[in-house]
Amino acid sequence: MEKKFKRTLITTALPYANGPVHIGHLAGVYVPADIYARYLRLKGEEVLMIGGSDEHGVPITIKAKNEGITPQDVVDRYHSIIKKSFEDLGISFDIYSRTTSDIHKKTASDFFKKLYDKGEFIEKTSEQYYDEEAKQFLADRYITGICPHCKNERAYGDQCEACGTSLNATDLINPKSTITGATPVMKETKHWYLPLDKHEGWLRQWILEDHKEWKTNVYGQCKSWLDMGLQPRAVSRDLDWGVPVPVEGAEGKVLYVWFDAPIGYISNTIELLPNDWEKWWKSEDSKIVHFIGKDNIVFHCIVFPAMLKADGTYQLPENVPSNEFLNLEGDKISTSRNWAVWLHEYLEEFPGKQDVLRYVLTANAPETKDNDFTWKDFQARNNNELVAVLGNFVNRAMVLTQKYFDCKVPACGELTDYDRATLADFADVKKYVEDYLNQYRFRDALKEAMNLARIGNKYLADTEPWKLAKTDMERVATIMNISLQITANLAIAFEPFLPFSAQKMRDFLGMDKFDWAELGRTNILATGTQLQSPELLFEKIEDSVVEAQVQKLLDTKKANEAANYKANPIRENIDFEDFMKLDIRVGTVLECQKVPKADKLLQFKINDGLETRTIVSGIAKHYAPEDLIGKQVCFIANLAPRKLKGIMSEGMILSAENHDGGLSVIMPSREVKPGSEVK
Ligand code: MF3
Ligand code: ZN
Repeated sequence: MEKKFKRTLITTALPYANGPVHIGHLAGVYVPADIYARYLRLKGEEVLMIGGSDEHGVPITIKAKNEGITPQDVVDRYHSIIKKSFEDLGISFDIYSRTTSDIHKKTASDFFKKLYDKGEFIEKTSEQYYDEEAKQFLADRYITGICPHCKNERAYGDQCEACGTSLNATDLINPKSTITGATPVMKETKHWYLPLDKHEGWLRQWILEDHKEWKTNVYGQCKSWLDMGLQPRAVSRDLDWGVPVPVEGAEGKVLYVWFDAPIGYISNTIELLPNDWEKWWKSEDSKIVHFIGKDNIVFHCIVFPAMLKADGTYQLPENVPSNEFLNLEGDKISTSRNWAVWLHEYLEEFPGKQDVLRYVLTANAPETKDNDFTWKDFQARNNNELVAVLGNFVNRAMVLTQKYFDCKVPACGELTDYDRATLADFADVKKYVEDYLNQYRFRDALKEAMNLARIGNKYLADTEPWKLAKTDMERVATIMNISLQITANLAIAFEPFLPFSAQKMRDFLGMDKFDWAELGRTNILATGTQLQSPELLFEKIEDSVVEAQVQKLLDTKKANEAANYKANPIRENIDFEDFMKLDIRVGTVLECQKVPKADKLLQFKINDGLETRTIVSGIAKHYAPEDLIGKQVCFIANLAPRKLKGIMSEGMILSAENHDGGLSVIMPSREVKPGSEVK
């Protein structure tokens, strides 16, 4: 049974204020959320769209440290860039605030305190790495060491970026503090945990039974989390950047960023509506919808609802439409590698083309699977769809009216069967667009809206009013009336998707009032209405323009490679004797197989000239076992044996590491006897 709601509260994931916003953020969250908000407003519904910057968390403190500025400086800089760029793209937030605001700090602090007083947390003491020189506990990102899987020397305490494995800080070999370079020691620390295990029962019912309609990617991720069993989650951290934990004995501790950030949705609502916010969050007739990216699913579907439930006075979200990821020219978008199209740069380089980006990101939205943004596709969609279909139709309707009827809407005469069929064709558009939008299927909704323009184009091409102008002006009047009514429909249908162009269309047509209910009507414009003389809605994008963008990306690739080389300088000289200590040999691979439950590891049996030795190597992501059987490889023969996933590894196979982390096994250029020395 579809529930009836009186109002809709739309939230959008709060972007981290440690970098600007890029097209991945837009396609995943902000453009679809904005389409949805505009659509509901157009229907006259009560809507709020809440946004803001997520300004806490460890990466912001690291960025500040690297640049020699304060974390507040970092977030001030990016908050204003982000806020302005959203505005310029027409993302229609009712409020875009931030988690360093006083209201937020108070709201988050009070939220924690209430749960604390209610006994909703458990306290646990655990051992964590501590830097005795800096006198502080170390967040995982503040520890580097050798990755136990691939031996990368610069793995972080939470992840090895070379092989992609997620790690615990205690997994690192030879850990070092990035603050002082000291070897950290283990020290006891107390934290507060939200016992998610206690919430598992109702979460299972609420998600798996009551919300089967959630998108399959969202439902599937929740199910797999729930099936693995939920564990208590720490909601505090030893850090000096964040909302202080408001209980005695918690000096030096702050709320975990993922505890305070979603409360930001609430604080921003309070900031906007200090006296009226509660009905949006606490009344049963409010529908709460969280727009997020797929990496945020567990926090919005499990952790935040558990927090709200623990409080006991809040509504839970009705839906959590989450998108997959958008890639850029075949590679994962990355803020740190500068592999992105940044919104603020796009807006500068493509002035007046907000709707082109909105269109391309919606038409190619990663709704059900990861998708790729390419500049070629951007150009093609602009030229072949926006210019050739939508822009072309609107322009012809306007120009012909100007030419034959002096910019006034002509009277509609008797309809032919063909006219009737055309009108019938677009009468259903409203229903289709609505159905798709109600299901958060924005690409399909956009396609339907575009279909309306196609109907219009076909109508003009088939009726050819320019040929009738000499003989039958009455017929031309009818054709132009219908074409203008279609244009008026386009001005409504495209408002959620392409607000700038829809506004232009309404200006052309002198439509100051409009609403969604009129969509599908054939008499929106009264006969005699004075129109403005038209301008082009869209213009062709030339090859040189997109080539320049591709070149910019190629330059980024080059710069990344250079930076990589710099970050990986030649080590200091060693003596010949040092080199002679290494015993490198050639061996022939007899067997090779994947190591069960370790997606990075391959287990080798190697003929080393004397006997068969076992070596485990972290190259499973780069080679299939059968590609290596029978091949000759180089290995370090006198490396002390080490156990990996329970298997004793007697040596190490040598590979060259590409700048992108790809590994290529070193092989002799001619076959040699197994056991041959490499010198
Ligand atoms: N800053 C997070 C991210 O970019 C999202 C936070 S969403 C919120 O992944 F719910 F916590 F606000
Ligand atoms: Zn690794």
